[in-house]
Amino acid sequence: MSIEIPVGLTELLQGYTVEVLRQRPTDLVEFAVQYFTRLRDNRSQDGAGGGGSGKPTKGVMFDGEPMQTESNGEDDDDDEDSDFEPPPPSRFHRRVSVCAEAFNPDEDEEDTEPRVVHPKTDVQRCRLQEACKDILLFKTLDQEQFSQVLDAMFELVVQAKDHVIDQGDDGDNFYVIERGVYDIVVKDVCVGQYNNKGSFGELALLYNAPRAATIAATEEGALWGLDRATFRRLIVKNNAKKRRMYEAFIESVPLLKSLELSERMKIVDVLGMKQFTDSERIIMQGDKAECFYIVESGAVKIMMKSKTKADHADNMEVEIARCTRGHYFGELALVTNKPRAASAYAVGDVKLLVIDIQAFERLLGSCKEIMKRNISHYEEQLVALFGSSMDLRD
Ligand code: CMP
Ligand code: CMP
Repeated sequence: MSIEIPVGLTELLQGYTVEVLRQRPTDLVEFAVQYFTRLRDNRSQDGAGGGGSGKPTKGVMFDGEPMQTESNGEDDDDDEDSDFEPPPPSRFHRRVSVCAEAFNPDEDEEDTEPRVVHPKTDVQRCRLQEACKDILLFKTLDQEQFSQVLDAMFELVVQAKDHVIDQGDDGDNFYVIERGVYDIVVKDVCVGQYNNKGSFGELALLYNAPRAATIAATEEGALWGLDRATFRRLIVKNNAKKRRMYEAFIESVPLLKSLELSERMKIVDVLGMKQFTDSERIIMQGDKAECFYIVESGAVKIMMKSKTKADHADNMEVEIARCTRGHYFGELALVTNKPRAASAYAVGDVKLLVIDIQAFERLLGSCKEIMKRNISHYEEQLVALFGSSMDLRD
């Protein structure tokens, strides 16, 4: 006797299972009632069965495929009042293999791919916006692209010791940290840590490569995930434009001359652009360092609290250097693992290219010697200005 499995049953139960693994409810039956009631309510809002109407289709999704999709150009009929959150792509189902997607980011082909939308409450959206406001990879997106990214992101709660990513796996999602501390482990060695901010998981998606590191939660935390398809459609495509915009400039930066072209392009792929207006503080002396800066346009003055007794009493700052197009700053604290040695302020309107500490470590290792040599120059400069020596080294 053969038993016929009804169409959709497997997906239905898998969706429920994924949500259970994600949310870990204590009462499975109660959770099932809520889950399936919400699913039914959500379906009925779309018309029973959801098919054949030409409207956005809603269905259960797995491993990076959207629960809800909507075709571009169609009216956005998100139900803002609905608190139904579709099951996100699960990190418990690792992506099995990366196929060579036929996607050429340089082609400006019409954007016809379906959009992923994970509905969010107003509170969730506020938290998401806060977590994403300093993510460098999002900094060069236009408003519409950024809004599509936010729509597609889904929330993920992790527990201590969870591996969000395992080195060598294929890439499924890109992650933005809302809270929690995460170890970066390469070949069983902890090479760094994300502390309640930042993002990871872009490399495998940018370069169709295996995961380059393991990311392990050290405590309970929360992340926002962005599925591979949306990442490639928006971020990778935008990166092609970024390369065209910054390639010539990056090649002209003296510090980066010793790098291979492909290494310089990897820097372009992960950098962000930030703008500042006159007198705005870019970095503050004594702060913990997170970024490295290259001036694209405008000027930046570097100010240090004076070492002379009289001035020190007033905490007076003295200008010690000025950086213009092609100059870099903010490397010292990254190289020495010390707090920022000085403050930096915009002089007029300034555009800066920004590289985060993890990318700095990964991509600018070979430039560190040049930077280290420059420290003695800084120290001489400070002796000349303040009359006493200062040890800037680690
Ligand atoms: P990905 O390779 O997709 O997955 C692991 C992520 O760890 C990687 O993307 C980076 O975002 C992040 N990462 C941080 N530091 C490093 C490092 N030193 N080497 C490799 N990956 C790193
Ligand atoms: P960092 O310490 O990270 O932040 C302040 C930056 O000011 C520092 O890196 C250098 O890039 C820059 N700077 C320029 N001149 C000096 C100097 N004489 N001493 C220290 N920092 C300097």
